[in-house]
Amino acid sequence: MATNLPSFPARDEMPLDTCIRLREITPVVAVEFPGGVPAYLALTHQAVREILARDNKTFLRDPKHWPALHDGSIPEDWPLRAIVEGDHLATKDGGDYRRLRGLISKAFTPARVQALEPRLQQIVDGLLDGVIAAGDGVDLVPAFTEALPMWVICELFGVPAEERHQMRDWTAALLAHTTPPEEAFATQNALQAYLHELVECRRREPGDDLTSSLVQVRDESDRLTTDELVGVLWLMLVAGHETTVHLLGHAIVALAQNPDQFELANAEGRWADVVEETLRYRHPVMIPGFRFTAEDVTIAGVHIPKGQAVGVVYQASGIDTAEYGESADRFDITRERSGHLSFGHGPRYCIGASLARLEARLALSALYRRLPELTLAIDPDDIPYSPSLFTFGPLSLPVTLGTVKP
Ligand code: HEM
Repeated sequence: MATNLPSFPARDEMPLDTCIRLREITPVVAVEFPGGVPAYLALTHQAVREILARDNKTFLRDPKHWPALHDGSIPEDWPLRAIVEGDHLATKDGGDYRRLRGLISKAFTPARVQALEPRLQQIVDGLLDGVIAAGDGVDLVPAFTEALPMWVICELFGVPAEERHQMRDWTAALLAHTTPPEEAFATQNALQAYLHELVECRRREPGDDLTSSLVQVRDESDRLTTDELVGVLWLMLVAGHETTVHLLGHAIVALAQNPDQFELANAEGRWADVVEETLRYRHPVMIPGFRFTAEDVTIAGVHIPKGQAVGVVYQASGIDTAEYGESADRFDITRERSGHLSFGHGPRYCIGASLARLEARLALSALYRRLPELTLAIDPDDIPYSPSLFTFGPLSLPVTLGTVKP
């Protein structure tokens, strides 16, 4: 399959730069994904918002609505197939979708999340002890920005501590568009097998965790099958850490590059504003999987036929000058905020928004309270970034600690 469309990602260009370049031409663009697969990208705030508002009606998530995936146009070994065909609540529509979302979202209400604060603080403090003990040159990605969200989501779902590294490695391999097809499918199979085992373990030995509660729902009602339960775990464990990892990484880089904003945040304890501004300025999500058109539709003036795959590009929409003015690409924690799309909009709004906000605020506030002189020990231009079209963030952040506070 080959097209004359612009490639996404483009050779020798960061995906966000490609989006910004294409956004100057059109708000919604047809591009060629790796493997020669055509799909649309929505690049402006308005286009993304219009699509999200038509979710679950014009835009569906079940890949059965993408004919090219099933009629031989897209090869069986297309590496992104493993992600696109994933069977979980974000790839379901209608009644099944509402039932699964209902089962899980109750656990993440703002009040329930607030009750987790003391435990989250304990985890943050413990990890920072480790960072400080490691000393100058410590890489904050494995030691802190990855470790914290992994620890939190795994603890909530009862994944044993010694298995969390493996979970992180599987996620990174699955989300990278550079992973060869055999490895992508093998990773997906390994993760699925692991989650089936986890369900079995929690059935034999229930604990005080969300997997055990879901196993109980499966066994005591007809509201959840084993495959659906595994799908829920897959999505919650992956979406529940990968995004927060990159949010923390982007925040640390943005604060290092904008010392005036760091001074302000530190002096006034405006860590919640840092979190919100980071989500706008460098969103961790590039594309949250594909949506499929259930009918012909016009978005931001661009016609998209029925049966096409569309990706909303959160990262590009956050720095759209039409929405945020000429300073859109400036990190400014005092910015007026309304109607931003950091956690989505409409029926598919992020289930974990309260948890992510709390976790990130506690992490940043404790990091800079104990290490107020923290500096990057790497030129920001040399920071390696994740090779993924779905999520995007720094892979390594070596730092110099400066003064250490108790
Ligand atoms: C900084 C952290 C996070 C960001 C920026 C983020 C962002 C988002 C966005 C933009 C969506 C909508 C996706 C779409 O348009 O299809 C979404 C959905 C979702 N998020 Fe998050 N998220 C974060 C953290 C979390 C956490 C911690 C969890 C789990 C505890 C979580 C679970 C989910 C789930 C399950 C969905 C799918 C909802 C649905 O399809 O109905 N997210 N997230």
